Amino acid sequence: MRRSLVVGNWKMNGTLASAEMLAKGIIAGLGASDADIAVCVPYVYLPRVSEVVKGSQLGLGSQNIADKSSGAFTGEISASMLKEFDCQYALVGHSERRSYYGDTNESVAARYCQAQEQNITPILCVGETLEQRELDQTFQVINEQLDAVINLAGISSFNKAVIAYEPVWAIGTGKTASDEQAQEVHHYIRQYIAAKDQTIADKIQILYGGSAKPENAQGLFAMPDIDGGLIGGASLDAESFLKIFHSI
Ligand code: 13P
Repeated sequence: MRRSLVVGNWKMNGTLASAEMLAKGIIAGLGASDADIAVCVPYVYLPRVSEVVKGSQLGLGSQNIADKSSGAFTGEISASMLKEFDCQYALVGHSERRSYYGDTNESVAARYCQAQEQNITPILCVGETLEQRELDQTFQVINEQLDAVINLAGISSFNKAVIAYEPVWAIGTGKTASDEQAQEVHHYIRQYIAAKDQTIADKIQILYGGSAKPENAQGLFAMPDIDGGLIGGASLDAESFLKIFHSI
């Protein structure tokens, strides 16, 4: 049985004070649960939020990670730096990074490796644009996104990684993939991995992201290959994020 996981991606939102309050609000409402939960916060809020989450069930992650380990890479944040603030997770290849900041399949794979070198679990984000979906290229796009990582890190690296399927057309648009649409792609991803390693495929957590909210989370999470969610907008409010978490 796979453990469920719900991750909040705060993106570039909030203030230091609101970040602290949000983390505290989430911790206060966790209750007893078998599922895992984490928040990916803006870099500069990591020191404060890492203090708040210490000793709690709420895990911590970053929204990106450098593709190199150290050196003259102005503006980048390395895996070892993130480790100092107890980051357990790092998002890699979020579609906003891919589309606005030039992340490529290859640079995403390098970030993924950097995270694993420091024992940080990469959350590899994959997904197609609306245009790619309409051209029937969804599976091909996902193959390429997964292959770049498999080629660099090997299939066994998925022993310690999470995959997030985030259809770009569903992110921040209010247009969620239907339960069946999401399940179809999640199943595809699991089969793709199973063709290389069945044990890893059975074990790996695949999260859904894209306009997930309290109203639709239960249906999505009930799908056999959906192991949790990567939540954007709805994770900025403790109550709605907790509702999503508790619906798992
Ligand atoms: P929304 O939940 O705001 O659509 O964002 C999803 C996302 O991009 C999470 O990484």
